[in-house]
Amino acid sequence: MKIVVVGAGYVGLTTSACLAELGHEVTCCDIDGQRIAALQGGVVPIYEPGLPELVAAQIEVGRLQFTTHTTKAASTADAVFLAVGTPSDEEGDIDLSFVDAAARAIAPHLKRDAVIVLKSTVVTGTARRVKGIVDTSRGRRDVAVASNPEFLREGSAISDFMQADRIVIGADDARSEAVLREIYAPLEARGIPVVATQTVNAELIKYAANALLALKIGFINDVADLCERVGGDVTAVADGIGRDKRIGLSFLAAGPGFGGSCFPKDTRAFASTGRRHGAPQPLIETLIEQNEARKLGLATRIIDTAPRKGRVAILGTSFKANTDDVREAAALTIVPLLQQAGLSVHLHDPQPDGAKRLLQDAVWHDTALSAASDADVVVILTEWDEYRTLDLADLAQVMRGRDLLDYRNIIDAERAAAMGLNYQGLGRAPLAFEATRRGQGIAAMPRVAASPA
Ligand code: UDX
Repeated sequence: MKIVVVGAGYVGLTTSACLAELGHEVTCCDIDGQRIAALQGGVVPIYEPGLPELVAAQIEVGRLQFTTHTTKAASTADAVFLAVGTPSDEEGDIDLSFVDAAARAIAPHLKRDAVIVLKSTVVTGTARRVKGIVDTSRGRRDVAVASNPEFLREGSAISDFMQADRIVIGADDARSEAVLREIYAPLEARGIPVVATQTVNAELIKYAANALLALKIGFINDVADLCERVGGDVTAVADGIGRDKRIGLSFLAAGPGFGGSCFPKDTRAFASTGRRHGAPQPLIETLIEQNEARKLGLATRIIDTAPRKGRVAILGTSFKANTDDVREAAALTIVPLLQQAGLSVHLHDPQPDGAKRLLQDAVWHDTALSAASDADVVVILTEWDEYRTLDLADLAQVMRGRDLLDYRNIIDAERAAAMGLNYQGLGRAPLAFEATRRGQGIAAMPRVAASPA
């Protein structure tokens, strides 16, 4: 099939490369000439494992091209995927002007029976509204508008696309459903279920799925707080509840609050949609507040742990591991608060480029150990493998202080304690039994003793 993808951002690029891999003839378009020129030369301007190789391979076999001439490319396409940005406004609503503008621009040029597919995350009702724009622009109703929400995660985008749990097709007519089914036939043949439904449902599925996943994170973060009070270990609790198949183990890792380009924005848009339609979503409203408060609360903990005018090393500025994306990352809230409190903040991230632009007045280091040198407190904010395998003896040696705050629960608490570090995870007091046996009592536990012996 001949497919055009409008938007060479995260979703647009991954979708283009993966659809080409499925055997389609794909042209990816963007108005950013520099980005397109780079892509034509095989340079992928985002960090996503495996994507540069996939793009290069698909260019090589001739199934993937890049252009700035969107309308020309769209004029011969069977399907045009819109993967343009949908930024948040102050109310939490999303700005659909890029979606509308792209639809308006291509509408007059499309061939009869083409299908516009909304890949960008859009509020429910958008496909039907865009269909109105397209019909008016063309003066006839021969182009369909479908919805095909994307569930890929940064850092595992290609496998999330190729081995999706399901493909959601939102179509209000049989023809556009058939076109989308044909596009995804290679994946359906591999056993991936296709959920075909009306556009309004497909749009809601995307928001409701992200809201529910974010709720799991918010819930386990609250449980972590309780664990700290009672001397429990949230990782054990999450394991115990997650093995109930109805709950599942995923998205139960306590952390510094969810970030990224989707969960914060999508929960805000979901809540706002609810308010607008007279069906408020109080669980999600509370979740949004709790997630913001969590970052502030953890910043306060760091400030309380560090000596006055002390030195703090933050390991990890990306919103999660395996991405250079810092959108709504915990570090963006926490680092400025530490600086305002008079602390000297030293940073490291394996993919620091995005964060360096936003956190310019902190001191950046090329290695984690260099950032930790002479630090009074070391804080792990992102769960990079590099930090999981950090040599704790070396860390203890280069630090000035003893406090290791592990806000991703990736360090073995006993090992850290054995190195003489004051280890503090989140919702985690794994040495509680030991300490209780020694008569120190549970109340002493949130801050683990320097040595378990
Ligand atoms: C998410 C959705 O998973 C994906 O389906 C959608 O298409 C886009 O949004 P992404 O933002 O790439 O993907 O990352 P994800 O792995 O879902 O993590 C989101 C945030 O939640 C991160 O800040 C992560 O650190 C945090 N998180 C995730 C936790 O704190 N605990 C968990 O158990 C899982």
